Amino acid sequence: MTDNVVLEARGLVKDFGRRADRWFGRTGTFRAVDDVSFQLQRGQMTALVGQSGSGKSTVAQLLAGLQRPTAGDILLDGSPVRIRRGQDFRAYTGDVQMVLQDPFSSLNPAHTVRYHLTRALRIHGATGRQEAIDTEIERLLATVHLKPEGRFIGRFPHELSGGERQRISLARALAAKPRVLLADEPVSMLDVTIRLGVLKLINQLKDERDLAVLYITHDLATARQFTSELMVMYEGKIVERGTSAEVIDTPTHPYTQQLLAAIPHP
Ligand SMILES: Nc1ncnc2c1ncn2[C@@H]1O[C@H](COP(=O)(O)OP(=O)(O)OP(=O)(O)O)[C@@H](O)[C@H]1O
Ligand SMILES: [Mg+2]
Repeated sequence: MTDNVVLEARGLVKDFGRRADRWFGRTGTFRAVDDVSFQLQRGQMTALVGQSGSGKSTVAQLLAGLQRPTAGDILLDGSPVRIRRGQDFRAYTGDVQMVLQDPFSSLNPAHTVRYHLTRALRIHGATGRQEAIDTEIERLLATVHLKPEGRFIGRFPHELSGGERQRISLARALAAKPRVLLADEPVSMLDVTIRLGVLKLINQLKDERDLAVLYITHDLATARQFTSELMVMYEGKIVERGTSAEVIDTPTHPYTQQLLAAIPHP
């Protein structure tokens, strides 16, 4: 099955340096990610769960190339990723895109949907006149089920609902035609009534585009529903992993049992 692997984390470690303490002059480091290894496969959604502060977002940022690992490797199609210059980063983001929890903070309030999507398309190679770009934007908006497209293209972020904003963030990620989508709590800021719609969309895009998706969440119910594999993180380490059904129905690690006990079960 290794040929289905798109992105791989191998022994990832991330230490954050504490600044030298101004009064005591001590320094030290804090290990936020501790020897984390896993593979993301095309056409599959993998869940990463764990309590607040366990290192989930740091893992996503390492995979997105936004932070440099202290040790370990990230492999894309089996080759180690080396990001040295802005150009390398741009090329990398053509394959690996991230969707964040708060679409409001990732969209610029001063700019319209057209601006955001035009920029993303141009960064990832679109050339030509604005009319051609607009056609591409309309296609993207249709892909994330924002219709009629003309209603959304000229809007500013504050003129969109939370769910619509998150769909724009998704459209922007898709403008790169990525093969990997890192979704860090993509629906936790949204009203419960629209969460499922956005997750179903991500799931549909995964199937249609054969995307490898990492779904970071605190919500074990949707992890169970939408993901095939699940990893549980605790204090920087992956302490349990398996098929999502297995891990959730018969957790073996005490921490996973605790995590499950903390949520109401149907
Ligand atoms: N830039 C940074 N500098 C120093 N420490 C950091 C930095 N980023 C994260 N940390 C620390 O690393 C640990 C892991 O943080 P991270 O954001 O990865 O957790 P998380 O699992 O995503 O939590 P949550 O579920 O609340 O989003 C935390 O203790 C956090 O304070
Ligand atoms: Mg986080």
